[in-house]
Amino acid sequence: MSRGKLVLFEGLDRTGKTTQSDILVERLQPDVTLIKFPERSTEIGALIDRYLKDKTFELPDQAVHLLFSANRWEMAERIKQLLLQGTHVVLDRYVYSGIAYSAAKHTDKMDRSWCLQPDRGLPRPDLTIFLTSDDAENELRAGFGEERYEKSEFQQEVKRQFIEVFKALEDNSQEQNLVQIINITGKSVEQVANEVWELTEPVVRAPTDSKNTEILY
Ligand code: TYD
Ligand code: MG
Repeated sequence: MSRGKLVLFEGLDRTGKTTQSDILVERLQPDVTLIKFPERSTEIGALIDRYLKDKTFELPDQAVHLLFSANRWEMAERIKQLLLQGTHVVLDRYVYSGIAYSAAKHTDKMDRSWCLQPDRGLPRPDLTIFLTSDDAENELRAGFGEERYEKSEFQQEVKRQFIEVFKALEDNSQEQNLVQIINITGKSVEQVANEVWELTEPVVRAPTDSKNTEILY
């Protein structure tokens, strides 16, 4: 039996990751599971949820970074098991959000390589789709500004960090097309969903004999 594929959506806040991951999950039924990070229902997830919603709840940025990473480790075994039993897993945010948001806070003492370390060893996505836009259009979407990080200047720095992360990934990887960028500017949900499907279909159709899931870095 072929293992399931790990497909990741990354992007800034309110770029339609959740909408697109829901649509993709519909298309991949029945052997598919959606996992969203942060996974707010776990012990560590509850702390993250409070940190994001309550701007008076202060924690050192390094500690916050490690909490987001620990939250992925809480789910890592489950992801592996699902893939090995032949179920596709769609992720709404993952390691690259972890790096981009934290490095955007402190480009010096928490640079991208510092940020990557605690995530080393997690299952590696077979395909990453980065949803981006040309402008601040995403700010107009409902609810923007309610949570920590939803400020347009900060989002610009996060975007810069994401681009650097994906550049480094491309340079270091032997494999082609691990990261695909979709610019959503001026496109309808359906148009973006079609582009997503064009990228995803060949990846999920490709058989993978290996019993093991690939590890990140
Ligand atoms: P989330 O609510 O999933 O974003 P959205 O609802 O807009 O899709 O994520 C909450 C915030 O957490 C978001 O601003 C990004 C941030 N984040 C990190 O800072 N580090 C991480 O590792 C992850 C997964 C998210
Ligand atoms: Mg958000």
